[in-house]
Amino acid sequence: MIITIDGPAGSGKSTIAKMIAKELGFTYIDTGAMYRAVALKIKRSGVDPDDPLSVVKVLQSTQIDLIPSENGVKVFLDGEDVSGLIRTEEIGKLASKIARHPQVRKILVRMQRKLGEKAKNAVLEGRDTGTVIFPDADIKFFFTASPEVRAERRFKELKEKGININYSDILKEIKERDLLDETREDSPLRPAEDAVIIDTTGKSLQQVFREVLQIIKERSRLH
Ligand code: DC
Repeated sequence: MIITIDGPAGSGKSTIAKMIAKELGFTYIDTGAMYRAVALKIKRSGVDPDDPLSVVKVLQSTQIDLIPSENGVKVFLDGEDVSGLIRTEEIGKLASKIARHPQVRKILVRMQRKLGEKAKNAVLEGRDTGTVIFPDADIKFFFTASPEVRAERRFKELKEKGININYSDILKEIKERDLLDETREDSPLRPAEDAVIIDTTGKSLQQVFREVLQIIKERSRLH
């Protein structure tokens, strides 16, 4: 069974995808982490992220592995554990930039599809998991929340990690990233026609978790 959760940054999809995968014993596939790993390599190699040919060249000699771990997944870039290093706002923005290149998407989508097929039972999370990677997924979700609520969540998350950044900067970055993800020509961020839309504004994680789990249970009974 393939379950997909798409949505913008800070909509709660990562946390819920991890919780659902754990609950059901499914493999959790964080597709954004793969764009982030490539972005980190691009940053380190000094390649121009706006030049698709150079980015693809780097990607062709890159090994990305997602290894299940206690709290989700560990991300390995050419054998190096980069799980923490890829979680910055800077890398998020760079990931969004390189994700605009169709050639880059083609390579990563192929890898992501393979991961899902190998896992058989998987929860995939990202921007195009239900529209492009698995258009025939069994159950598709699309999470939304107002930019202000998403910025607030990010702000709290970063604060807990001891990272000092102000709320208005985060809100600005979230809006910029939304614009990049929603306006790219190849696979823009949008709900699949058959996706269940979940607005997480004003809901606790537990509320969203229960809502999603209930829908999965109802739908899998019908299958
Ligand atoms: O979900 P995230 O914040 O880790 O994703 C980082 C960026 O990667 C996101 O802004 C756009 C890109 N991305 C994508 O284009 N397609 C996906 N399936 C996942 C992420």
